[in-house]
Amino acid sequence: MNSYEGKLFHVVTYGCQMNVHESEKIRGILSTLGMLETEDINQAKVIVFNTCCIREGAEDRAYNNIIALKKAKSIDPSKVIVICGCMSQQKKGKYNLKTKLPFVDIILGTHNINSLKEHLLNFDKSHVRIIEILDSATSSMDTEKCIRDDKVNAYVNIIYGCDKFCTYCIVPHVRGREKSRDPKDIYKEVKDLVQNQGYKYITLLGQNVNSYGKDLKDKTSFAELLSYLCKIEGDFKIKFMTSHPMDFGDDMIKVMKTESKIAKFLHLPVQSGSSKVLARMNRHYDIKHYMKIIKKLKRAVPNISLSTDIIVGFPGETDKDYNQTIKLLNKVKYDQVFAFMYSKRTGTPAAEFTDQIEDDIKNTRVNRLLRLQKIIQKDQIKKYFNKTYDCLIQQVNGVAVGITDGGKEIYIPNYRYDNQNYFAKVKVDSIRNHKLSGVIVS
Ligand code: 5AD
Ligand code: SF4
Repeated sequence: MNSYEGKLFHVVTYGCQMNVHESEKIRGILSTLGMLETEDINQAKVIVFNTCCIREGAEDRAYNNIIALKKAKSIDPSKVIVICGCMSQQKKGKYNLKTKLPFVDIILGTHNINSLKEHLLNFDKSHVRIIEILDSATSSMDTEKCIRDDKVNAYVNIIYGCDKFCTYCIVPHVRGREKSRDPKDIYKEVKDLVQNQGYKYITLLGQNVNSYGKDLKDKTSFAELLSYLCKIEGDFKIKFMTSHPMDFGDDMIKVMKTESKIAKFLHLPVQSGSSKVLARMNRHYDIKHYMKIIKKLKRAVPNISLSTDIIVGFPGETDKDYNQTIKLLNKVKYDQVFAFMYSKRTGTPAAEFTDQIEDDIKNTRVNRLLRLQKIIQKDQIKKYFNKTYDCLIQQVNGVAVGITDGGKEIYIPNYRYDNQNYFAKVKVDSIRNHKLSGVIVS
């Protein structure tokens, strides 16, 4: 018996899908201690902050929320506060968590969430503060249990870490070197999610999924892994993120074209429309190469939905470079764009570049870009007319809706949703007020 049994926990998550999934694992670990989850942070005995440091804003948000707990901890010292994730792994972060937050009981890095249970049990006995930041994982990152947020889409890790070292990015510094999971373990996990737990979408996760397998003995490629997972029987689809244009080869285009279980959706971060900026970012591709992939993809996979990440205001970005990014958006016509202002990350090469861009220029550039993308997206709606999409049938506000692989909703009037999740082909037959309607055709 430990003092956690029957008590409540609350997990606060910042950052990307990797972190969201890691928090699902943390919830699994806490439940194996006999704890229950609460939505109310004030009721929780154990509070875990799973942090992100990709940009300064993410760090500030986490830090301010953690500091706000100081009072609650002084009123009730039996609360256990844990920090894990990318912020705690940083060597030279903006905030020194170890010295600035003495009321935090346990600080873990990115390689050891699996030891959270053991540390909590030790802390329960000794009440001595625990700090464990490892340089690399010493044991598997798989956990015995995982409590997933979503009942339709399940995240599955396939590769940890990143070896790309883009000059702006902190990830390789806090997540370590690339480490692929065994394909058989991934297969087993996906099969269970699909066949026993009824998941309809499986999203394979990695900082760079296209690097999958390079470190494995048999060098299974990512395209091969996809084909292998598509052999699993069941009514489901596979998504994956994040892809890197440098490693996105013809084998990927082929597998996306031929395997019907792969969602017609791709998030392919371009970061900039200027080849000069891409070179300084150490992205290992130029715009010509990127556009070649997009062209081939659009030809091979009609109706594919595309999204991307853009950084504006990278050091040395001129008006000309920025306008090339704008030109790229007009050309590709993404369904969604995630645009970020460059944020200086201590310890990365770009932080040392002397031609940093002023914040107000970054601000103007990002706002103009987002305004343009909004117009493109509005205009894009026309392309759906008279086309048929393989959709997951769901109910939204009491109405049956088909959701495309890219997340677009197609209303299906006069159709009775029977609470089952299944895929069906939906043909768009009307567009009104930027809303799509259609009929089920199979
Ligand atoms: N500043 C701004 N955006 C960044 N990203 C990564 N590092 C930074 C940074 N220092 C963005 C990239 C990446 C996404 C996850 O976050 O666009 O694809
Ligand atoms: Fe960061 Fe580049 Fe690795 Fe993506 S590929 S995680 S942007 S270093």
